[in-house]
Amino acid sequence: MLSKSPEITAGVFEVDHPLIECHLSALRSVNTTPLSFRSHVRRLATLLAYEATRDLAVEPTPVTTPLAETEGGKLTNRIGLIPILRAGLGMVDPVLDLIPTAEVWHLGLYRDEDTAQPVEYYSKLPPGRPVDVALVVDPMLATGGSMLAALETLEKWGVKQLKLLSIIASAEGIEIVEKAYPQAQIYVCKIDPVLNDVKYIVPGLGDAGDRIFNTL
Ligand code: URA
Repeated sequence: MLSKSPEITAGVFEVDHPLIECHLSALRSVNTTPLSFRSHVRRLATLLAYEATRDLAVEPTPVTTPLAETEGGKLTNRIGLIPILRAGLGMVDPVLDLIPTAEVWHLGLYRDEDTAQPVEYYSKLPPGRPVDVALVVDPMLATGGSMLAALETLEKWGVKQLKLLSIIASAEGIEIVEKAYPQAQIYVCKIDPVLNDVKYIVPGLGDAGDRIFNTL
């Protein structure tokens, strides 16, 4: 029996959905508490992951129900979930709920506040045997610097299929990442127009890591 291998289309996907619009509004609000901010991040990550995983290959698997034998499916490929520390952690659990067999490989990158350049401080990817598909999660894709650094690391590891999931991206960041990795699939809830002079996304939502971890 043949596995289902849907066509993989690279590019930028701004997911248009009423639930995304509502949860994103709540997430953006300056009045949203950390508790509620985290739950909106989880809901948005679930909705993004649902879209981003549409083309995963599935192989047929027999299932016995209480009444009969039927055919089900299971994921064919090894899936890696790659949170960019630290804000990406907020998106891990909802994606793992959907793909419990995913391997979680953390990448620690922080933005040097003076240069706005990414600095890698944690990466323990095992050499050889890269995952087949990487889902890189970071709620905010601002300059694209951290995402580019993460993609470079994953490409060196040997990952063939790169999927990026961000809740908000800047138009500038998206353009930079798309240009450098035209083969990647970029899923976002919203593309915001500008970065301010300290490279925060505007209107954005402020610092996602600080709002998730209540370190404002
Ligand atoms: N990181 C954030 O958390 N927010 C931004 O606006 C930009 C980068």
